[in-house]
Amino acid sequence: MAKTVIIMAIPNRKLIKYSRPKKSKEPKVRNLVTKYINSPKDKKTRTGGTFSFTTNNFQKAKISIFELMRIVFATHNPNKIREVLHLLPKHIDLLSLTDIGCVEEIPETGQTLEENALLKAQYVVRNYGHPCFADDTGLIVDALDGAPGVYSARYAGTNKNADANMAKLLSEMKKKPNRSARFKTVIALFLEGEQQLFTGKVEGEIIHEKKGEQGFGYDPVFKPVNFDKTFAELPLSVKNKIGHRGKAIRKLVDYLKNIDNTTE
Ligand code: IMP
Repeated sequence: MAKTVIIMAIPNRKLIKYSRPKKSKEPKVRNLVTKYINSPKDKKTRTGGTFSFTTNNFQKAKISIFELMRIVFATHNPNKIREVLHLLPKHIDLLSLTDIGCVEEIPETGQTLEENALLKAQYVVRNYGHPCFADDTGLIVDALDGAPGVYSARYAGTNKNADANMAKLLSEMKKKPNRSARFKTVIALFLEGEQQLFTGKVEGEIIHEKKGEQGFGYDPVFKPVNFDKTFAELPLSVKNKIGHRGKAIRKLVDYLKNIDNTTE
């Protein structure tokens, strides 16, 4: 699964990513890569090393050699892919469901966010043979015994309409004095025969009417604690910093950054 790649940076030239480093035209690059490939397994790390040298035509260059790890994020949503991509270390090659040709809807039949995230990630591993992580998010409202929770997307019906979901939520909350709620994201990762779960939460309250135009889902009715604006009124950078998904993603990224034992 692991594959050695290098990234070569030469000033004034585009960053070059070789997936067949042994074929590089630079003898110094070939030597460094060969040395790296032949080094004992326990001395290699996925994050590899960065080496400086002078090229054939006397330019200063830097190469990073590392083991490329391909992981699928079980989503078709380009916004989610983008959100994760810029946080990932460079030895991770992130693929979406579209990239691996998975067009069918993955069954989400679990009773909890954890179960659904695991089901989705497992489905990809089983049917496509790639390591994978998947996320599932829900809005948990205390006065509604945790609803809509795992059913957040389909709260008001199978067409997953955000306005209808919010209308139902506000109606259910009409006479409820306790407005406390939280978003929770669970990410399940299946990698090298092991499974891990990463969780992110943000506490807040359900306000009485929609406010704000940004975001999606229940953002216009959710006000995080210590803020006087809803998620739909706050800049995305703030939502990512304090929000459920951002927190879970950062835990996943920390975990992936610290994996450095190579398996081939
Ligand atoms: P998913 O698991 O990310 O698809 O989220 C399930 C449902 O939870 C979505 O369809 C939304 O209704 C809701 N949801 C998830 N994340 C957010 C968010 O960041 N803001 C508001 N609603 C969200």
